[in-house]
Amino acid sequence: MCGIVGYVGEKQALQVVVDGLRRMEYRGYDSAGVAVVCDDELETRKKAGKLANLETLLGSDPLPQSTIGIGHTRWATHGGPTDANAHPHVSEDGKVAVIHNGIIENFAELRSELTANGVTLSSETDTEVVAHLLAAVLPTVGMDLAEAMRVVCRRLSGAFTLVAVHSDIPDVVVGARRNSPLVVGRGDGENFLASDVAAFVAHTRQATELGQDQVVELRRDSITVTDFDGRPAEVNDYEVTWDASAAEKGGYETFMAKEIYEQPKAVSDTLLGRVDANGRLHLDEMRLTENDLRSIDKVVVIACGTAYHAGLVAKYALEHWTRVPCEVELASEFRYRDPVVGHRTLVVAISQSGETMDTLMALRYAREQGAKVLAICNTQGSTIPRESDAVLYTHAGPEVAVASTKAFLTQIVATYLVALYVAQVRGNKFGDEIQAVVRDLNDMPQKIDLVLDTTEEVKALAQELKDVKSVLFIGRHVGYPVALEGALKLKELAYMHAEGFAAGELKHGPIALLEDGVPVICIVPPPSGRSILHEKIVSNIQEVRARGARTIVIAEEGDDVAAQYADHLVRIPAAPTLLQPLVATVPLQVFAEAMATAKGLDVDQPRNLAKSVTVE
Ligand code: F6R
Repeated sequence: MCGIVGYVGEKQALQVVVDGLRRMEYRGYDSAGVAVVCDDELETRKKAGKLANLETLLGSDPLPQSTIGIGHTRWATHGGPTDANAHPHVSEDGKVAVIHNGIIENFAELRSELTANGVTLSSETDTEVVAHLLAAVLPTVGMDLAEAMRVVCRRLSGAFTLVAVHSDIPDVVVGARRNSPLVVGRGDGENFLASDVAAFVAHTRQATELGQDQVVELRRDSITVTDFDGRPAEVNDYEVTWDASAAEKGGYETFMAKEIYEQPKAVSDTLLGRVDANGRLHLDEMRLTENDLRSIDKVVVIACGTAYHAGLVAKYALEHWTRVPCEVELASEFRYRDPVVGHRTLVVAISQSGETMDTLMALRYAREQGAKVLAICNTQGSTIPRESDAVLYTHAGPEVAVASTKAFLTQIVATYLVALYVAQVRGNKFGDEIQAVVRDLNDMPQKIDLVLDTTEEVKALAQELKDVKSVLFIGRHVGYPVALEGALKLKELAYMHAEGFAAGELKHGPIALLEDGVPVICIVPPPSGRSILHEKIVSNIQEVRARGARTIVIAEEGDDVAAQYADHLVRIPAAPTLLQPLVATVPLQVFAEAMATAKGLDVDQPRNLAKSVTVE
């Protein structure tokens, strides 16, 4: 959701803060704002809209030079995306500036209390109450900003990351964290605070994870972390494994294009080092014992959005290879329906960001019920792996575009590694069978490369179809979640009606949507794999064609049967059925990106979205 950055050091704070915001704009882009402290004065600038609007304002109304500052990009929750609701929010005396990510659930009560005490609030946000509360508390705690923050945090409920500065305390930035991300960057004579390491990785790769309910006081040469009661807190230091160039566009038009093209590497990095010379899988980093895995009687995958689609793909492989029943559930639904989970359930929480609130709340619930939770995550130091019993990292590198691409493929690979490992431990598969699948997985990066070499036709097709009202996607077996993912990409990027269906389900209702010329993208399983699946989908393609639909058929090289029913044919390299999503998804990502470009839309920052969804 919102992106937060704080800096204290020797450099020009404004430059550091604005650069950090640019790297975090994917988190929210409804408005942006900054505050700096200079000569005991607090100065803020804020503007509705993207960061570029704030930069224009800073050009016409510059801020004084300063070595301490904070900044914010907003994804609106309380109050519309206006200048007044943009952060930072400032106390009535103009001395405290606060930025916030999350939702303060008891803000209405706090607002009434402040109003009753004669405070005039100037925005509709939940955040502003914190600025006024800090101003009220500070004189009672000897003008100690960290202590004032602890006192205020003890009064707040909900999820929040807060960062504050005060004009009379010009060498301190204070942050607080409950249920929303906040990381410290440790520099030499300078320190940073941010929602994501991307904001400061150009300056330092030394980071510190903050735990739940902690307050951090940042000075140029010191970092002090306590809990909300002021007791010294334990923190975890780590080194970021990628550098700033990984989060640059690197010559591509958009981050999304770059990330689509990074998929072969992302997949091979996720496979790297997990198989020994004898072909045995080693997932030691996972921290689950073989006994834990032998005792499970059910796997439940929880995730949201694209990560949920990766979970749906995983179910087919996991049940097939391990014979352990697997359910896949949207994290936002799981927790609120009294699900049957216990100490023999392995819950797999999939999340690129590691901060998605729905997934975090679902995993906490699962652990309360006694289940073991394994996180599959792309972001080191994030909350979901920290709160799980075990973690397997995907090595996709930073994903900046709001629409997820490379994370999806690596999530599928990681779940497959887990499934094969469970099969190995429980003896469901012989070693040579596991080795054969691992060999096939190792061939996939090269096959994805082949798909990426032939995207021109898909791009031309997107240009041709840019004015259609609706696109449908059909698939069977693992092709069904691929259809769902293709539709999600198109919705979020091209703002058009797009829906994925299990091909066999079409005749039970959705076929009524078909009329002349409606594009239907059909994902065809390999003819050589489970040929019955292939036969069935070929019938489904004929059914839609008979009703006037325009078929766009994604079929493997040499599949001449499916090709006969294609108005447009997109070829993908041959792959085993269970691995086909790793190649079949790629043209759909390219199609959605090209469609957004053809419509003149913002590919990396689609409207209303944010990359890391830290509210429920
Ligand atoms: C879609 C997309 C979202 C995320 C979802 C979960 O392109 O990016 O649907 O997949 O918000 O996010 P993570 O994986 O960070 O938990």
